Amino acid sequence: MTKTILVINGPNLNMLGTRQPEIYGNRTLDDMMTRLRDIAESGSPSVRLQTIQSNLEGELIDAIHTIGRESNGIIINAGAFTHYSIAIRDALSSIETPAIEVHISNVHAREDFRHHSVLSAIVVGQIVGLGEDVYRLALEWFRARFEQEENGARS
Ligand code: DQA
Repeated sequence: MTKTILVINGPNLNMLGTRQPEIYGNRTLDDMMTRLRDIAESGSPSVRLQTIQSNLEGELIDAIHTIGRESNGIIINAGAFTHYSIAIRDALSSIETPAIEVHISNVHAREDFRHHSVLSAIVVGQIVGLGEDVYRLALEWFRARFEQEENGARS
Protein backbone atom coordinates (compact mmCIF):
# COMPACT_ATOMS: atom_id res chain seq x y z
CA MET A 1 0.00 0.00 0.00
CA THR A 2 1.28 3.49 -0.84
CA LYS A 3 2.75 5.27 2.16
CA THR A 4 1.83 8.85 2.91
CA ILE A 5 3.81 11.61 4.57
CA LEU A 6 2.40 14.87 5.87
CA VAL A 7 4.79 17.82 5.48
CA ILE A 8 3.91 20.66 7.85
CA ASN A 9 5.30 24.16 7.43
CA GLY A 10 4.55 26.72 10.11
CA PRO A 11 4.47 30.51 10.37
CA ASN A 12 6.32 32.77 7.94
CA LEU A 13 7.51 29.89 5.77
CA ASN A 14 5.04 31.10 3.12
CA MET A 15 7.44 34.05 2.79
CA LEU A 16 10.36 31.91 1.62
CA GLY A 17 11.86 33.30 -1.56
CA THR A 18 11.85 36.87 -0.28
CA ARG A 19 12.23 36.33 3.47
CA GLN A 20 15.83 36.88 4.62
CA PRO A 21 17.34 35.16 1.55
CA GLU A 22 20.81 35.31 3.14
CA ILE A 23 19.48 32.82 5.72
CA TYR A 24 16.77 30.88 3.87
CA GLY A 25 17.83 31.12 0.22
CA ASN A 26 15.87 32.29 -2.81
CA ARG A 27 13.49 29.44 -3.40
CA THR A 28 9.80 29.67 -2.60
CA LEU A 29 8.03 27.12 -0.42
CA ASP A 30 5.90 26.11 -3.41
CA ASP A 31 9.07 25.36 -5.41
CA MET A 32 10.49 23.34 -2.54
CA MET A 33 7.31 21.32 -2.00
CA THR A 34 6.85 20.67 -5.74
CA ARG A 35 10.38 19.33 -6.00
CA LEU A 36 9.92 17.24 -2.85
CA ARG A 37 6.68 15.78 -4.22
CA ASP A 38 8.46 14.79 -7.46
CA ILE A 39 11.20 13.05 -5.48
CA ALA A 40 8.63 11.33 -3.26
CA GLU A 41 6.52 10.02 -6.13
CA SER A 42 9.34 9.00 -8.45
CA GLY A 43 11.48 7.08 -5.92
CA SER A 44 10.97 3.56 -4.70
CA PRO A 45 8.87 2.81 -2.77
CA SER A 46 6.74 5.67 -4.05
CA VAL A 47 5.49 7.99 -1.31
CA ARG A 48 2.45 10.26 -1.47
CA LEU A 49 2.99 13.69 0.08
CA GLN A 50 0.43 15.94 1.63
CA THR A 51 1.62 19.43 2.44
CA ILE A 52 0.21 22.15 4.63
CA GLN A 53 1.49 25.62 5.48
CA SER A 54 -0.24 27.80 8.02
CA ASN A 55 0.57 30.81 10.13
CA LEU A 56 -2.04 29.69 12.67
CA GLU A 57 -1.12 27.33 15.49
CA GLY A 58 -4.64 25.84 15.68
CA GLU A 59 -4.64 24.95 11.98
CA LEU A 60 -1.35 23.09 12.37
CA ILE A 61 -2.73 21.26 15.40
CA ASP A 62 -5.92 20.30 13.52
CA ALA A 63 -3.82 19.01 10.60
CA ILE A 64 -1.76 16.87 12.98
CA HIS A 65 -4.93 15.43 14.58
CA THR A 66 -6.60 14.62 11.26
CA ILE A 67 -4.19 14.18 8.31
CA GLY A 68 -1.14 13.51 10.50
CA ARG A 69 -2.89 10.76 12.38
CA GLU A 70 -3.73 8.95 9.14
CA SER A 71 -0.23 9.38 7.65
CA ASN A 72 2.75 7.07 7.92
CA GLY A 73 5.14 9.89 8.78
CA ILE A 74 5.28 13.61 9.49
CA ILE A 75 8.00 16.05 8.46
CA ILE A 76 7.55 19.26 10.46
CA ASN A 77 9.15 22.66 10.17
CA ALA A 78 7.17 24.45 12.86
CA GLY A 79 9.03 27.74 12.31
CA ALA A 80 9.07 29.90 15.44
CA PHE A 81 6.45 27.63 17.10
CA THR A 82 9.32 25.15 17.47
CA HIS A 83 10.72 27.21 20.27
CA TYR A 84 7.63 27.61 22.44
CA SER A 85 4.50 25.78 21.28
CA ILE A 86 3.68 23.17 23.90
CA ALA A 87 0.34 22.80 22.08
CA ILE A 88 2.05 21.55 18.89
CA ARG A 89 4.25 19.27 20.96
CA ASP A 90 1.14 17.86 22.69
CA ALA A 91 -0.58 17.38 19.33
CA LEU A 92 2.37 15.36 18.01
CA SER A 93 2.44 13.38 21.25
CA SER A 94 -1.26 12.60 20.99
CA ILE A 95 -0.87 10.54 17.80
CA GLU A 96 1.27 7.51 16.97
CA THR A 97 2.72 8.80 13.69
CA PRO A 98 6.49 9.32 13.90
CA ALA A 99 7.67 12.87 13.14
CA ILE A 100 10.98 14.36 12.03
CA GLU A 101 11.69 18.00 12.91
CA VAL A 102 13.48 20.01 10.23
CA HIS A 103 14.90 23.52 9.97
CA ILE A 104 16.28 25.11 6.83
CA SER A 105 18.72 27.31 8.76
CA ASN A 106 21.24 26.19 11.35
CA VAL A 107 19.23 27.26 14.39
CA HIS A 108 22.22 26.51 16.66
CA ALA A 109 24.32 29.14 14.91
CA ARG A 110 21.64 31.79 15.39
CA GLU A 111 20.07 33.65 18.34
CA ASP A 112 19.97 31.86 21.71
CA PHE A 113 16.18 31.59 21.68
CA ARG A 114 16.43 29.39 18.55
CA HIS A 115 18.73 26.86 20.25
CA HIS A 116 15.92 25.27 22.21
CA SER A 117 13.16 23.20 20.62
CA VAL A 118 10.16 22.11 22.66
CA LEU A 119 9.58 19.41 20.01
CA SER A 120 13.00 17.76 19.99
CA ALA A 121 12.30 15.30 22.82
CA ILE A 122 9.19 13.83 21.21
CA VAL A 123 10.28 13.56 17.56
CA VAL A 124 12.28 10.70 16.05
CA GLY A 125 15.08 13.08 15.13
CA GLN A 126 16.05 16.51 13.86
CA ILE A 127 17.69 17.63 10.61
CA VAL A 128 18.83 21.24 10.64
CA GLY A 129 20.91 23.76 8.72
CA LEU A 130 21.21 22.04 5.33
CA GLY A 131 18.83 24.33 3.48
CA GLU A 132 16.07 22.84 1.37
CA ASP A 133 17.78 19.43 1.55
CA VAL A 134 16.48 18.93 5.10
CA TYR A 135 13.08 17.99 3.69
CA ARG A 136 14.53 15.50 1.19
CA LEU A 137 16.77 13.88 3.80
CA ALA A 138 13.81 13.42 6.13
CA LEU A 139 11.80 11.92 3.27
CA GLU A 140 14.61 9.48 2.43
CA TRP A 141 14.84 8.38 6.07
CA PHE A 142 11.14 7.56 6.06
CA ARG A 143 11.44 5.83 2.69
CA ALA A 144 14.22 3.57 3.97
CA ARG A 145 12.11 2.78 7.03
CA PHE A 146 9.05 1.93 4.88
CA GLU A 147 11.21 -0.34 2.74
CA GLN A 148 12.53 -2.14 5.82
CA GLU A 149 9.00 -2.59 7.13
CA GLU A 150 7.86 -4.02 3.79
CA ASN A 151 10.81 -6.40 3.63
CA GLY A 152 10.23 -7.44 7.23
CA ALA A 153 6.55 -8.11 6.53
CA ARG A 154 7.48 -10.28 3.51
CA SER A 155 10.09 -12.44 5.27
C1 DQA B 1 13.18 27.86 10.93
C2 DQA B 1 14.00 28.36 12.14
C3 DQA B 1 13.11 29.05 13.15
O1 DQA B 1 13.88 29.53 14.25
C4 DQA B 1 12.41 30.23 12.51
O2 DQA B 1 11.54 30.84 13.43
C5 DQA B 1 11.72 29.88 11.24
C6 DQA B 1 12.38 28.98 10.31
C7 DQA B 1 14.07 27.24 9.83
O3 DQA B 1 13.55 26.53 8.99
O4 DQA B 1 15.28 27.50 9.80
O5 DQA B 1 10.65 30.39 10.93
O6 DQA B 1 12.30 26.84 11.39
